Amino acid sequence: MTSVAEIAPDLYRLCTEVRDAVARVLDPASIRGRRRLEWHYLPLVTSAAVTTAALAVLVDSPVLVYRLSVATAIVGLALFGLSLGIGPIGLLVRGRPLPISTDLRRDVGILAGILSLLHVAIGLMVYPDVRSYFVYPMAEWQRRLFLLRLDDFGAANWTGLAASVILVLLLATSGDWALRRYGARRWKQIQQLAYWAFGIVFVHGVVYQRLDPHPQHALVVIFGIIVAGVVGLQAAGYLAYVARADAPSGRTPR
Ligand code: HEM
Repeated sequence: MTSVAEIAPDLYRLCTEVRDAVARVLDPASIRGRRRLEWHYLPLVTSAAVTTAALAVLVDSPVLVYRLSVATAIVGLALFGLSLGIGPIGLLVRGRPLPISTDLRRDVGILAGILSLLHVAIGLMVYPDVRSYFVYPMAEWQRRLFLLRLDDFGAANWTGLAASVILVLLLATSGDWALRRYGARRWKQIQQLAYWAFGIVFVHGVVYQRLDPHPQHALVVIFGIIVAGVVGLQAAGYLAYVARADAPSGRTPR
């Protein structure tokens, strides 16, 4: 039988090849790409995977797809919140705003987008008929004037879809090419759609939590902490920004 020691060098070589390939995709010049990979993607992906797996185990339901849907939703939301919190934290810690684009904020945002879209794919499998997410069931068509689903379940899904569209747009414009093509100001305006997406996801999550026939209080608390954290950091960042603008030297007072 082949031992671990025998295949270890091959595994190591495979890992370094994968790392170099991803680094090349992240940045042709590669040093920056490798730095992003080692300092951002490896720790973030590892912790997101571990947390998602732990949540999927802990969620109280016999249905695996439901547990995965909730776990990816919460971890996606946490990463999304972190990406929005990095700006205010930077401002509060450094006393001046972060540059328009930083690799950390961008990489956290990219992972948040990917995990959220994974949640969308899994979320669409939680209920048997994917059409029923957005359109009333056929049996109800005769007594409905409007077939698009506008009850609470429909509202939860339409908001989820709206947030997903924004997230796809944000992901598609997260590369350096987009920054070059649109220029800093326009690119920033596009990326600021993330605030709208976060607000829409908040509504989506609240409506779904209200619909849940087996409410799980721990999830509601975690959801609340993430949202309150983002709102609190944004408010603190805004106040620090205004104070900095009002200070005679244009610097944040100590
Ligand atoms: C069409 C798009 C989407 C669909 C079909 C969808 C589906 C679902 C489903 C089925 C649930 C509830 C799990 C359950 O109770 O059965 C849920 C909850 C949730 N979703 Fe989505 N989702 C979508 C988009 C998004 C996006 C883009 C995000 C961004 C992170 C998101 C974040 C959440 C959150 C935070 C919850 C609440 C989890 C909880 O605490 O129970 N969803 N979604």
